[in-house]
Amino acid sequence: MPIRHFLTLADLSAAELHNLLRRAEQLRAVHESGALHEPLRGRVLGMIFEKSSTRTRVSFEAGMSQLGGNAIFLSPRDTQLGRGEPIEDTARVLSGMLDAVMIRTFAHENVTRFAQAASIPVINGLTDDHHPCQLLADLQTWQAHRGDLTGLSAAWLGDGNNMCRSWMQAAELMGFTLRIGCPDDYAPHDLNDFANTQHHASPQQAVAGVDLVVTDVWASMGMEDEAKARNAAFAPYQVNAELMACAQAQALFMHCLPAHRGEEVSAEVIDGPQSVVWEEAENRLHAQKALLEWLVG
Ligand code: CP
Ligand code: NVA
Repeated sequence: MPIRHFLTLADLSAAELHNLLRRAEQLRAVHESGALHEPLRGRVLGMIFEKSSTRTRVSFEAGMSQLGGNAIFLSPRDTQLGRGEPIEDTARVLSGMLDAVMIRTFAHENVTRFAQAASIPVINGLTDDHHPCQLLADLQTWQAHRGDLTGLSAAWLGDGNNMCRSWMQAAELMGFTLRIGCPDDYAPHDLNDFANTQHHASPQQAVAGVDLVVTDVWASMGMEDEAKARNAAFAPYQVNAELMACAQAQALFMHCLPAHRGEEVSAEVIDGPQSVVWEEAENRLHAQKALLEWLVG
């Protein structure tokens, strides 16, 4: 069988995505039961982090341990990658020693180049353009509360960033509508290629009647210099109680974290009864274990 990579959600068919989400729920139940499940005994995941991480690092590392394998944390500060060794050479070398590689980096092209040269599965742990692992957890969480997502609607508020693009791909695969509430200047450039995504400059219009409201930081990693301009542009898009009131009464709130209370979300929303952010964060573990089992097992 040819090697499979997970660089964007579009690497999966709808059926594969549904299977992974089902398996993630099963693995959550196994974990909660305390039973050992170690299909990846002797397998090793390399994890290259060129940006900071709490959830992604810990969920992959703990996930590999729980599946019976090991994970190695690789920082560009300590590896030759950080001193200019070509991506392709690194990919060939690591392919001879590891069973899979997860990469968090800046340009999305870095992961596609790595995957082209690798002979082991490559997982995107976040690039400037996509964050597909987070979407596995987000979809698992939304489904756990709502069942079949077909025909439902979610609102994305704020920056048309990496998370937003992964949500756009998720809407196509899962058959829900994504309503992006975002200033024109920050909307994803390829919106028109996504049949299930709509753009609204008005945050109230984006949120009107939706089942789920999602947001993320206004200045992603690597964009810190733009924070002042972004804070001004995105201020009307803050997810607060007033904006949540435009959604369905039972609407859920999600955020991939880390969050900035008082910026993209108010404390009353993220710490309130509609928020499922802690369950969403925990599901990173279960969803990625399903992914690892499928790619590496
Ligand atoms: N949501 C997420 O990817 O978190 P980390 O940056 O902590 O990995
Ligand atoms: N959009 C954010 C997500 C962090 C998990 C970033 O790229 O920094």
